[in-house]
Amino acid sequence: MLFSCLPMQRADMGRAFEIERACFAEPWSRAMFEGEFLHEYSRALLLRMEGGSQTEIIGYLFFHLVADEMHVLKITVSPEHRRCGGAGQLMKAGMSAAVKQGAAMAFLEVRRSNAAAFLFYESLGFERVGIRPAYYKNPGTEDAIIMRKTLQGGNHGFTDWD
Ligand SMILES: CC(C)(COP(=O)(O)OP(=O)(O)OC[C@H]1O[C@@H](n2cnc3c(N)ncnc32)[C@H](O)[C@@H]1OP(=O)(O)O)[C@@H](O)C(=O)NCCC(=O)NCCS
Repeated sequence: MLFSCLPMQRADMGRAFEIERACFAEPWSRAMFEGEFLHEYSRALLLRMEGGSQTEIIGYLFFHLVADEMHVLKITVSPEHRRCGGAGQLMKAGMSAAVKQGAAMAFLEVRRSNAAAFLFYESLGFERVGIRPAYYKNPGTEDAIIMRKTLQGGNHGFTDWD
């Protein structure tokens, strides 16, 4: 399958928002989507499936760039297009853009019960580095697993605990 990963434009937000509502029990609101276009540190990439003259929006990635860190907020692929490598390409495009803008480390949180997402992040080299107890409140209280990946150099702006 052929994919493209490009910055999300406001005009694309409607389809991305439909995917959001189809994929999450507690989807982001439209205002939260729109809010991501307002911050200088916020980035949104869109995943398209390319098919000759036709293209279809099938996923998206939101992340923030803070100091030399990439903070992954959300990555989603529509259910019928999963396990085709799309999210992998999208994350790699996001990490590559983050590195070009100076990011040395990437961080994210994932629900303890979200095995698919955990394995997906692990497949990209993210490692479990901690737990935020009872981080998620809806639906039900659930821990977040914190994951981290070195993007370049290991020259990040803090000292490891050990
Ligand atoms: C997590 C998610 C983005 C993965 O998207 P995807 O397009 O299916 O991922 P890829 O096809 O690029 O998968 C790459 C690798 O990740 C791992 N992986 C992905 N989904 C997996 C699953 N359901 N079970 C086990 N491993 C999985 C595999 O190693 C896979 O490689 P393989 O297919 O060759 O075995 C997708 O399942 C999704 O949108 N889930 C709902 C939203 C979500 O939970 N997002 C993350 C938290 S915000």
